[in-house]
Amino acid sequence: MVKIAPSVLSADFAALGDEIAKVEPVADLLHVDVMDGHFVPTLTIGPVVVEAMHRRTHLPLDVHLMIQHPDRYLAAFAKAGAAYLTVHAEVCPHLHRTLQQIRELGVKAGVALNPSTSLHAVEQVLDQVDLILLLSVNPGFGGQEFIPFVLKKVEEMHRWLERLNPRPELEVDGGIKLENCRDIARAGATILVAGSAIFGNTDARAAVTQFREALAK
Ligand code: DX5
Ligand code: ZN
Repeated sequence: MVKIAPSVLSADFAALGDEIAKVEPVADLLHVDVMDGHFVPTLTIGPVVVEAMHRRTHLPLDVHLMIQHPDRYLAAFAKAGAAYLTVHAEVCPHLHRTLQQIRELGVKAGVALNPSTSLHAVEQVLDQVDLILLLSVNPGFGGQEFIPFVLKKVEEMHRWLERLNPRPELEVDGGIKLENCRDIARAGATILVAGSAIFGNTDARAAVTQFREALAK
């Protein structure tokens, strides 16, 4: 069963606790976008807010670090209650070491790739990760269009991961809507992130349920 991770980037930040409560009974994970204004143009939240969210929810926090120097902040996000910490391969010259550090903190380790980054950037560390995150938009903003060529990347990464035991999760993030979720799941995604399609909907809980129905077809 494909998991659904609502992205709080599109939630009302002034009412984060209430927004989380809406999806709590129906979501599998909560996707948290951390942006530093350097790796991506936008600034969002840090460990203080992640910790506050952790106190409000039983959902595992899937923390996507879109930041330039993730190593400096891993311990703080682990302490804040992250279940997954995902770093971008593009900013990790010592990716193997960074992933080890995440695991040593007792957190599941993920690597993310921008749409234009080759899958080969993570080929050597596939057995060191719990999750591969393929961005299907250029990160920084919610509400963008799914970039079609990423579907082929999902298919190819799925083939690579199939050989592994245990098999890491294959998460896809950006531009996921009811209309394209089945194709992405069929390509091999095991976690779908959706921000605007869930929290941009007047009924966020119903939106998650609609995703489940679309995926079950
Ligand atoms: C993009 C973020 C996404 C974002 C997705 O920079 O990493 O997690 O919230 O938003 P939608 O689903 O609206 O494309
Ligand atoms: Zn994200």
